Amino acid sequence: MKFFIDTANLDQIKEAHDLGILDGVTTNPSLMAKEGIKGHDAIVEHYKKICEMVDGPVSAEVFGTTFEEIVEEGKKLAAIHKNIVVKVPMIKDGIKAIKWFTDNDIQTNCTLVFSAGQAILAAKAGATYVSPFIGRIDDGNWDGVALIEQIVNIYNAQGYMTEVLAASIRTPLHIVKCAEAGADVCTCPLPSILGLLKHPLTDLGLAQFLKDAETMK
Ligand code: E4P
Repeated sequence: MKFFIDTANLDQIKEAHDLGILDGVTTNPSLMAKEGIKGHDAIVEHYKKICEMVDGPVSAEVFGTTFEEIVEEGKKLAAIHKNIVVKVPMIKDGIKAIKWFTDNDIQTNCTLVFSAGQAILAAKAGATYVSPFIGRIDDGNWDGVALIEQIVNIYNAQGYMTEVLAASIRTPLHIVKCAEAGADVCTCPLPSILGLLKHPLTDLGLAQFLKDAETMK
């Protein structure tokens, strides 16, 4: 399973990249706004900086909702860097635009996916990635990981090439469960990635080893 970081914060991207396990980055308008990025030039500059830091797919989301707007915006985003993946919402015009991008060799990430039916449409349109939002599903008292499992099974049964990108990750356990369910990619906030490191027995064991090592000096 590939690891993407789900943020537009450059310090956090650097910290995850320095771990040596980072395969890509996803952003969305909320994450970009949180960094105080405003205006076309600032947006382009920010994506350039991310692409210079991480040699892997970087999802950049369109703001438009009509076919024409999404295609125009997506073409501009894709022109920023070869690693940009155009992130398109799961709406009727979004699906039409994803098909257009597929036919024009532009990579896409179909976002805001909450059902297996939506994931089938994204795959039929040729999306490079499909992003089911598992945390938001769990928030509504449904089972986000079960949806990942269902989509993985459908894609395997049908031979769809679209990669399942588990999004809206809230905890380290979500990452483990998505790996178990066969997700191709997990996009995670930094605390969830770092949370994977933690185990109290590791801390206790290391403290003892370091104490014993002192006696050998
Ligand atoms: C990433 O592609 C999604 O936009 C993101 O994971 C959504 O996460 P949230 O539900 O925590 O906002």
